[in-house]
Amino acid sequence: MPHLFTGARDTHSDPRALPRGTKLGQYKVERVLGRGGFGFTYLATSKERDGTVSKMAIKELFPDGVDRGSNQEIYPINKAEAEMFEDARNRFHAEAVALKKCVHPNIVRILDYFSWNNTGYIIMAYEEGEQLGKYLKKAFPNGGAPQEWILDIIYPLLDGLSHAHNQGVFHRDIKPANIFLTANNRPVLLDFGAAKQLNQSHRHRRGHNSMLVVTEGYGPYEQYTYEGMIGAWTDLYAMGAVIHTMMVGRCPPSAYEREYKAQGGRDSYERLSKRSALRQIYSQDFLAAVDWALERDITRRPQSNELWRSRLPQSRKLATTVVPDSRTILQKVTLPITKLLTGRLTDYTRSTGTTMAGTAMTGPGIGMGMTGPGMTGPGELPPPVPNPAGRSLVVGLIVLGAAIVLGSIILLIVETY
Ligand SMILES: Nc1ncnc2c1ncn2[C@@H]1O[C@H](COP(=O)(O)OP(=O)(O)O)[C@@H](O)[C@H]1O
Ligand SMILES: [Mg+2]
Repeated sequence: MPHLFTGARDTHSDPRALPRGTKLGQYKVERVLGRGGFGFTYLATSKERDGTVSKMAIKELFPDGVDRGSNQEIYPINKAEAEMFEDARNRFHAEAVALKKCVHPNIVRILDYFSWNNTGYIIMAYEEGEQLGKYLKKAFPNGGAPQEWILDIIYPLLDGLSHAHNQGVFHRDIKPANIFLTANNRPVLLDFGAAKQLNQSHRHRRGHNSMLVVTEGYGPYEQYTYEGMIGAWTDLYAMGAVIHTMMVGRCPPSAYEREYKAQGGRDSYERLSKRSALRQIYSQDFLAAVDWALERDITRRPQSNELWRSRLPQSRKLATTVVPDSRTILQKVTLPITKLLTGRLTDYTRSTGTTMAGTAMTGPGIGMGMTGPGMTGPGELPPPVPNPAGRSLVVGLIVLGAAIVLGSIILLIVETY
């Protein structure tokens, strides 16, 4: 088994971090917010022209195998690490560029990127709030978070995730510590880890000491292997694991352990939909959807966010745009148009039966664009029911378009004669 890095270290006192007051151009380092395997995250401030002070979070690339000199520059500790560090810098930059395109209220906003101190810095909007992980430990240490509350967090995160996936960016490290709840309860995905995984593929190629980055309990099995096929299903497994933690108070057993035990004939994951205590709190379709996301085999998991969300119960927020006296239509009419159309697209591609074997998923990467409804697989649940509201909307649009074209032709004929 390769060496696994499984979590951030506590390092507010790490002497290698930039000291408080350090100036990085216009930004002043205030304190360390976190230290993961690939760098420090600082809270920084910047003084605007009008005198106001704004806050931002700055991520400094500082992977294993480097150190900081007295002039604050970062240098690789030996020749073997030099190549790795060069590669990591390029990928860190590529990640910043890819993430900058992901402008979405539920994805941490990337403001800028620059190179300094022989390394890279990503400037992010600073969010006031709290890590979901910390919040859960206080509010629901034994699980049992209300279904509506969970859905109010999961739906916006899925929106953000779909947006990232459509740009070809996969998160790869979704867990409660990388979800931030802002003061006005907006959940935000932090810490996209493309650079981490790409860096690891480099190590593998070049025969360096192998190192995989995966958070036990949240990362699916494909993240434990170099050949693992990364896709929407990878992030959905982790989303399922986050919900598992909200419901049960702890994450599912590690995917590595599950795989190992399954080879002996017994998966150590206990299906939520079979647990009677949970069935009293959560709807059966919700529990089944979480079990689905947490399938070991990627072909048995939902292949796109849209497909998975179509099996989740409606969230309160989606159902709150009031349509008087019509509870039955409420769920359909309150879905935004894009979702209705996506629903159709999903139905269509499922029936065309595009399979994973036919798609290029040879390695992790930014910009591979290999998600979306085109990626479908056997899945455990039956195909989604076609959405009649979506269908009539499309038909309506076609009829309207045809009427406009016809009208223009008639006008043209009338004018000509
Ligand atoms: N944009 C941000 N706004 C506010 N806090 C942040 C922001 N980015 C990161 N943090 C805080 O710093 C911690 C570590 O950041 P993260 O990006 O997850 O890096 P890592 O896990 O590699 O240390 C987060 O859990 C969060 O508490
Ligand atoms: Mg993190």
